[in-house]
Amino acid sequence: MPRPPLIRKDPAGFRVAPNLPDTDAARAAFSWDSARAGLQGLPGGGLNIAHEAVDRHAHGPRANHVALRWLPVAGAARDITYAQLARDSNRFANVLRGLGVVKGDAVFVLCGRIPQLYAAVLGALKCGAVVSPMFSAFGPEPLKTRVNLGAGKVLVTTDALYARRVKKVEAEMPTLRHVLRVDDPETRGLLEGAPESFTVERTGAEDPAFLHFTSGTTGMPKGAVHVHGAVAAHYATGRFALDLHPEDVFWCTADPGWITGTSYGIVAPLAHGVTSIVDEAEFDAERWYRNLQDQGVTVWYTAPTAIRLLMKAGADIARKYRFPKLRFVASVGEPLNPEAVWWGQEVLGLPIHDNWWQTETGGIMIANTAAMDVKPGSMGKPLPGIEARIVHRREGGLDVVDAPDTEGELVLRAGWPSMFRGYLGQEERYRKCFAGDWYLTGDLARRDADGYFWFVGRADDVIKSAGHLIGPFEVESALMEHPAVAEAGVIGKPDPVVGEVVKAFVSLKAGFAPGEELRMQLLAHARKRLGAAVAPKEIAFAEALPRTRSGKIMRRLLKARELGLPEGDLSTLEGPA
Ligand code: PRX
Repeated sequence: MPRPPLIRKDPAGFRVAPNLPDTDAARAAFSWDSARAGLQGLPGGGLNIAHEAVDRHAHGPRANHVALRWLPVAGAARDITYAQLARDSNRFANVLRGLGVVKGDAVFVLCGRIPQLYAAVLGALKCGAVVSPMFSAFGPEPLKTRVNLGAGKVLVTTDALYARRVKKVEAEMPTLRHVLRVDDPETRGLLEGAPESFTVERTGAEDPAFLHFTSGTTGMPKGAVHVHGAVAAHYATGRFALDLHPEDVFWCTADPGWITGTSYGIVAPLAHGVTSIVDEAEFDAERWYRNLQDQGVTVWYTAPTAIRLLMKAGADIARKYRFPKLRFVASVGEPLNPEAVWWGQEVLGLPIHDNWWQTETGGIMIANTAAMDVKPGSMGKPLPGIEARIVHRREGGLDVVDAPDTEGELVLRAGWPSMFRGYLGQEERYRKCFAGDWYLTGDLARRDADGYFWFVGRADDVIKSAGHLIGPFEVESALMEHPAVAEAGVIGKPDPVVGEVVKAFVSLKAGFAPGEELRMQLLAHARKRLGAAVAPKEIAFAEALPRTRSGKIMRRLLKARELGLPEGDLSTLEGPA
């Protein structure tokens, strides 16, 4: 039976009154100044994310409320209250200060999902440092590139990750003064001996707080700079898009090595004073259903790849569990197929609410909110404080597309608090992201007559695999380091579960012949350099790669040929196709 295009919300069915009963009305009445009034600010003036996230509650009625419930890979859960998290992060801040970390220094954090990660990130923010969280599945190469681009002064990691990822490139990161291994006896001693109080550095709303790396089509990763003032947007979007209420048990499944895991796995839920679930383990269908049930998760923020993996695991596993407490489910990071929205309705008893944002936007911009009717396949509507348009670029400006259902580029009116303030050291690249007042997202979308936005695709060659953005250039560079490789071109190949998998095409230097053994060698080389999250899953050999006359590899053509699609405009192709 065909499914209806709309999932209607019945106000009588809400278990708690949604924070945003009428998105359109709230948008008309909203101002960022009023949203900022909900923040406390530092005693004596200034704004610091860690104060809003932790200290404010630690010195108030929520001091003994559980901030984080940590589920280790094996063993019993551990609860960390707001008061405890304040003490733990203060100790970390004292240790960092003792190592000479001052306002503006870059502190990189490469840990799995362990309690020390949260203390380290919040402690570094308290010091006024700029925090750059790294994904623990990054190999040595992406790590080194980022630490060097960001001039990292301290790297916080674990013994195991140090041995596997850091040690071999440590000498190639000249700005690093200290590597703190949180489970190493010396660091443990330092932390235990550190005072449990700390006066938060007097940062202001425009002082940098986070450096989040993201990937473009060309060149090395871009370090998007985010400021302490962003917390106003994290708080507002936590309220509007995730519908957080004080007694919620919230689970954001994203790793804090990516911006979703910091903005919505650390900042937003803590700023709301709710309890967050932190699961150290990797995805496992049975474990995830058990978490939802046994932890009494009320609000769940996850990703399309995870949902598709649950769908793939089958309904029998799901039927063993019940989710009476769950009341709101949202997803981000890649297109959410209508099938997945309906799966939520059938298996969890709730539709999945898709929302959209980017590393550059710092927080959720477009969302299906709790009270809105859901159109499966749509990203929803712009949140209060966000103005979104569909445009066509033209020489010297933009043409705003008013006609509904017309494809164009998604743009946002600049000025929301969590907007990135620059790409570190790349002023020109930053400037190119704007046309007048508008921030150009690089995503293609359309808006329907009811004001819902629909994702169409990306305007560039960046790859989205399991929700993670991967720059083809970074992968190509690592492959080119192999002595057999003459040239490399990397594309995203559509995949039913993870969205896209990284596929590389390589041509070989004279004296090397394609073959299974070399393919395995190249796969292993890439995996060792880049780590599992970034390395290609497939490698194909080619005589030569198609290039433009200016010498750029035509990834689009590689992709079209891979998919058997029309090859498009080949007028810039160099030589015979
Ligand atoms: O292409 C869009 C896709 O992910 C990109 C942003 O990636 P990243 O910076 O890693 O984002 C981290 C925070 C989510 C976007 O430009 N994307 C994000 N959300 C959606 C999406 N594509 C389709 N539907 C979405 N809901």
